[in-house]
Amino acid sequence: MDDATPDLSRYYEVAKSATRCAVFTGAGVSAESGMPTFRGEDGLWKEYRAEELATPEAFARNPGLVYEWYDYRRGIVAGVEPNAGHEALARAEDLFEEFTLITQNVDGLHQQAGSSNVIELHGNIRRDRCNVCGHHREEGEARECACGGPYRPDVVWFGEALPVGAMEEAFRAVATADLVFTAGTSTQVYPAAQIPYSAKEYGAWVVEVNPEPTPFTPLADLSVRGPSGEWLPLLLDPAVIRPDRDTR
Ligand code: APR
Repeated sequence: MDDATPDLSRYYEVAKSATRCAVFTGAGVSAESGMPTFRGEDGLWKEYRAEELATPEAFARNPGLVYEWYDYRRGIVAGVEPNAGHEALARAEDLFEEFTLITQNVDGLHQQAGSSNVIELHGNIRRDRCNVCGHHREEGEARECACGGPYRPDVVWFGEALPVGAMEEAFRAVATADLVFTAGTSTQVYPAAQIPYSAKEYGAWVVEVNPEPTPFTPLADLSVRGPSGEWLPLLLDPAVIRPDRDTR
């Protein structure tokens, strides 16, 4: 298939009859909002890679540096808006009997766009949690909890476990879905990256949306090479996939 002009006819057949849809997103979905991705050219902060900062060891060694990086990313989050890709996914909740959005993103932009049912595999940068007692709070200035432990962003760092039940819920959604999207993710960070593979194993039709190929690309039923802010609204256009429904 010519990457530049993929044949969408089979996709539209599948999408029109699909009743259960699951979507797996990564940093690329927020790129058009102005959020830097982790592994793209814009992923470096100072001279550090995400893998050097987003770890319990980095926080233990140099909490100030890790806070500084998160303050930088929180500053970006505060100034950006959801893009057309987030909005298409929020609208898509009404197009299927079941719709599950599974994200690796910690920026909260899916919820800001109106998605109501989001599985956050890697937490949310807008919240803090105490590194000792686990107490949650909205992000704030004071960096010490009442228990004396340090607050940290409520995100999952490399080497840490994902929130209890999140992967199970995600696997359940892709196991029963007939249509699955994997959008804006390099599909390199496990266990989350298992999700599209698991979808294929369970027999879902899987669409990848990414300007670049990924390790998952050879398994995708359709791979569209381009920004999710352009492709998701097109692929999830209610007028095309639900032509008989008044979706105004
Ligand atoms: N639309 C869609 N995809 C895009 C766009 C865009 N406009 N711009 C970039 N991409 C793609 C890139 O080609 C890349 O494949 O988004 C992907 C971003 O990959 P990563 O930076 O590796 O982000 P992600 O897959 O979300 O990383 C997973 O790693 O650092 C951890 O916890 C962090 O959740 C993150 C996890």
